[in-house]
Amino acid sequence: MKALYSEERIHARVDELGREISRDFLGKDLVLIGVLNGGFIFTADLCRSIAIPHEVDFIGASSYGDSTSSDSNIVYTKTLKRSIKGKHVLIVEDIVDTGRTLEFLVKDLQKQEPKELRIAALFWKKEKANPNLTVHYPGFDIQDDFLVGYGLDYAGMYRNLPFVGSLEEADR
Ligand code: IMP
Ligand code: MG
Repeated sequence: MKALYSEERIHARVDELGREISRDFLGKDLVLIGVLNGGFIFTADLCRSIAIPHEVDFIGASSYGDSTSSDSNIVYTKTLKRSIKGKHVLIVEDIVDTGRTLEFLVKDLQKQEPKELRIAALFWKKEKANPNLTVHYPGFDIQDDFLVGYGLDYAGMYRNLPFVGSLEEADR
């Protein structure tokens, strides 16, 4: 395991994003939608860095099995608890790889007629992802590494690491 993003660096960036979001959504009816499973830790930290009142909900979307490559089958493992109609929605994703999960989510959530829908992602493989997909609040632009820690898993493991590292052959 090679550590790439320290706990301190992640927290500093999450706090910056929280301040930006607090300014941008001031006076608006904001709902964070954390994307499970990977987004649970980022969502927990980000919501505490946001100084304005807001709701937090979770949606479960799974596109990965135990492998490190993408496949396009996305299934809901949890749906939203409350309606987002007319609300300002911020989807909170751990990492955008191909962007397929988010494209699916955005399209599907738009059907519920939120007033606005934006995206926060801690990591964004910007060069690899669909150029039509905008991440409004990206934590870090990254290359095509496979990352684990801070919510990100490999076969369900490593989510608890406080830092983010790249998975090496020896870790698989
Ligand atoms: P996408 O649909 O290809 O953008 O994949 C998005 C989902 O796959 C993310 O929400 C993650 O849960 C998972 N994923 C993508 N890249 C990584 C990675 O480097 N490490 C761990 N999980 C990843
Ligand atoms: Mg995810």
